[in-house]
Amino acid sequence: MMKWVIGNWKMNGLGAALTEVEKIAEGAAAQRPEVVLMICPPATLVASMADKCAATAVSVGGQDCHAAESGAHTGDIAAEMLADAGAVAVILGHSERRTDHGETSQEVRAKTHAAWRAGLTPIVCVGETEAERDAGRAEAVVEEQLAASLPDTLPDQTREDLIVAYEPVWAIGTGRVPTDADISAMHLKVRQHLEARYGKVGSAVPILYGGSMKPENAGAIMAIAHVDGGLVGGASLKADSFLAIAAAAAMATNG
Ligand code: 13P
Repeated sequence: MMKWVIGNWKMNGLGAALTEVEKIAEGAAAQRPEVVLMICPPATLVASMADKCAATAVSVGGQDCHAAESGAHTGDIAAEMLADAGAVAVILGHSERRTDHGETSQEVRAKTHAAWRAGLTPIVCVGETEAERDAGRAEAVVEEQLAASLPDTLPDQTREDLIVAYEPVWAIGTGRVPTDADISAMHLKVRQHLEARYGKVGSAVPILYGGSMKPENAGAIMAIAHVDGGLVGGASLKADSFLAIAAAAAMATNG
């Protein structure tokens, strides 16, 4: 059983932070091959981090891309540019992009196609707000986001070139996490959606949990059925905590 541990550095990290990724790469060498490790730094660090991580067990991803291949879009970055800089994946539709930039699920869907066009694996994020959960709408909201954010067909119907991350907005950066039962119920819903949408291949799409994942809770969360790993914010900024989460993931690969 594989697990994915993906760090989202968000808008954190200057050149000096590359020493952390060197430590992560050193620690990764001792990790089990069943654990996929990736860091998604700010765009300014993608190329230098990809250089540092070449020939290590750590890969590099972007945090967003534009849907177009090139053009008059000041400040934006094409999926092709991320791939050119050495990224292998890109986070799309993170709640901070949906909130800060008004990104819609339709835009996320277009960006997912862009990622595939450039040969990147899209990591598509969904998740409810606290008000939506309190109103009993968490599963409906996630279902709506999945329906609109994911393309109807995968580029290769025999291969799961897609990662989905369930990140309840109220758990991001707050130290609060849903109960195991709530994570379990939501991940099962996401799995059912993916299987209904993509058939057998949908069973193999990794579904990551994100939101205040720490070394202390990672093992228990990653042992839940249909939790195939974590999308880690704050705890990915330091090698020690990121590697501790990776070690918890390795334990969870034993089933
Ligand atoms: P935190 O781990 O800091 O809560 O962030 C989660 C997240 O948003 C990852 O994309």
